[in-house]
Amino acid sequence: MSADERRESPFAASMLEHADAPPRNTSGNPTMGEIISRRFSRREILQGALAVSAISTTIGVKALAAAEATKAETSQSAFHFTEVEAGVDAHHHVAEGYDADVLLRWGDALFPDSPSFDPARQTPEAQARQFGYNNDFVGYLPMPGATDPSSHGVLFVNHEYTNPHLMFPGIVEIKDGKLSMHAATPERFRIEAMAHGATIAEIRKIDGKWALIKDSPLNRRVTAATEIHLSGPVSGTDRVKTNADPSGRKVLGTLNNCSGAMTPWGTFVSGEENIHGYFSGALPEGHRETANYQRLSIPLAPYAWGRFEDRFDLSKEPNEANRFGWVVEVDPFDPQSVPKKRTALGRFKHEGADNVVAKDGRVAVYLGDDERFDYVYKFVTAGRFDPTNRAANMDLLDTGTLHVAKFSADGTVLWLPLVFGQEPLTETNGFSNQADVLIETRRAADLVGATKMDRPEDITPHAATGRVYIMLTNNTKRQPDEVDAANPRAENAFGHIIEIIEDGGDHAATRGRWEILLKCGDPSVAAVGATFSTETSKNGWFGMPDNAVIDSAGRLWVATDGNDAKATGRADGLWAVDTDGPSRATSKLFFRVPHGAEMCGPCFTPDDTTAFVAVQHPADDGPDWPEFGRYSYYEDLSTRWPDFQPDMPARPSVVAITRKGGGKIGT
Ligand code: FEO
Ligand code: CA
Ligand code: CA
Repeated sequence: MSADERRESPFAASMLEHADAPPRNTSGNPTMGEIISRRFSRREILQGALAVSAISTTIGVKALAAAEATKAETSQSAFHFTEVEAGVDAHHHVAEGYDADVLLRWGDALFPDSPSFDPARQTPEAQARQFGYNNDFVGYLPMPGATDPSSHGVLFVNHEYTNPHLMFPGIVEIKDGKLSMHAATPERFRIEAMAHGATIAEIRKIDGKWALIKDSPLNRRVTAATEIHLSGPVSGTDRVKTNADPSGRKVLGTLNNCSGAMTPWGTFVSGEENIHGYFSGALPEGHRETANYQRLSIPLAPYAWGRFEDRFDLSKEPNEANRFGWVVEVDPFDPQSVPKKRTALGRFKHEGADNVVAKDGRVAVYLGDDERFDYVYKFVTAGRFDPTNRAANMDLLDTGTLHVAKFSADGTVLWLPLVFGQEPLTETNGFSNQADVLIETRRAADLVGATKMDRPEDITPHAATGRVYIMLTNNTKRQPDEVDAANPRAENAFGHIIEIIEDGGDHAATRGRWEILLKCGDPSVAAVGATFSTETSKNGWFGMPDNAVIDSAGRLWVATDGNDAKATGRADGLWAVDTDGPSRATSKLFFRVPHGAEMCGPCFTPDDTTAFVAVQHPADDGPDWPEFGRYSYYEDLSTRWPDFQPDMPARPSVVAITRKGGGKIGT
């Protein structure tokens, strides 16, 4: 379903994740499409597309089968498993020879005293003690001192947003064949607020299967009401002071946590993404934050929490929105620790914060701003990671330099520093200090001439090679006049993946080279311009890359958001993508989600024997899938995955994938 169609859903209030806000980047910076089109000739692009379409149209089925068999024999893919068949149905599917076990589902008890899940009579108090809704990022850190680090650890899971029409009974009405959803009540608001945030859970393999340790002192819920501190250059400054917090240092809650990462010192970082949807009301006339909020589409009010808490009403608390849109760091091994919003990493619609130790010990954090025409960032710490002293690393993310990427037609990428006092980030342009630059990161990036991208999602560094993989999920708003004949995708409906090779293989470098690893979409349709290798099967291609991870063998795995029966004839899933050798740009389908869901996570244990994936918003949408053909909601769901019980709604869940009989995944 396209973003525009999503907006037409009667439940559009719950469609926040899909970044449907109108594009706000009105700067004159060039788009990625323009750059790509300058770099590649029309001829090169047609060769890629036609090579595949010629196979499917001019030779017979038998010949095709023979060609497929030869491909399989000669393949030098780093991945070895039998592909799942692409398609859409009510169930999940994993490659043959693997188990996919549901580990944690929405409503699961996390503590010995958690009430059992009763979806028809949910309460805020119960939800605060249970696994939250819409699991997105999944991270895993081994328990310190564990005998087997890949069998005992702590899981961190983001709960990005809520879909009330799938969560609550009796709130959807049908009148004259039209669906509508009741406005939230204060009680429903409180449940939804408790369903947001994150879960920290100790897990362990018992008799070969992962299980939650319910009485672990590490289990914890972070919600929209948890106390969190602002740290770094913005902490304590005027633009983040509110009536409830005149110190400008203490925020309640984290919202719309999308992707994230582990850090080398054993914490989790998590990106606050579509924060605009929680605010309502209007700023006082001529307020200094007007342009700042417009650039982030604040307020776009599907949730409109200002109806329930003054702080979300801009007319009453004009600075509260400056306290969201940050990367949050949580120490999972100290349940009393206060999570910190690391303001040095900038404020925008953060996707993830994947990071790596650079050659000299500084840490590079790659950051995507998930909006059409927004930017790719990299933060480099000032201090160095000390592997022998955990405490010394705990505030590394407070000091360093935030950069934004400028991609050039000659194949170079420059990381431009966003530093107050360096032109043009000066008083002349309304910046008085680094806090201003960070609060208005997008405007600072506009001014230095960053490259407008097609919705940057996860950005994944490869520690060993100095390469970086950028998921650009799609941008259907790119106008035909923003591309030329050399880039046939006027509307980038399927996204692409860019590979950066940092200079000298050094992740702290301020320049590198770039190329396109993959343009996504159906490679058998020449007009799509997809560039999967010809080795890729009809099941193996995908659209809309979103989350990504590199396993310990250095292989890239990509999770997608937005594939469905209508868009690509396939559900979202986890795809294995070759990045090296003759099989580069070959993709294979390893796991697929049930109808309506998006694939999030993924995360591998250090030994690659388990892959944790998150199935987000199962049973959402509906008209896209002909077998269902109508909007899905609590009483009339397209799937009741994973329980398939008549009194149980569909439940977003984290799934643990392991190989039958043990062993590394995909080998
Ligand atoms: Fe939450 Fe960028 O998707
Ligand atoms: Ca995402
Ligand atoms: Ca996503």
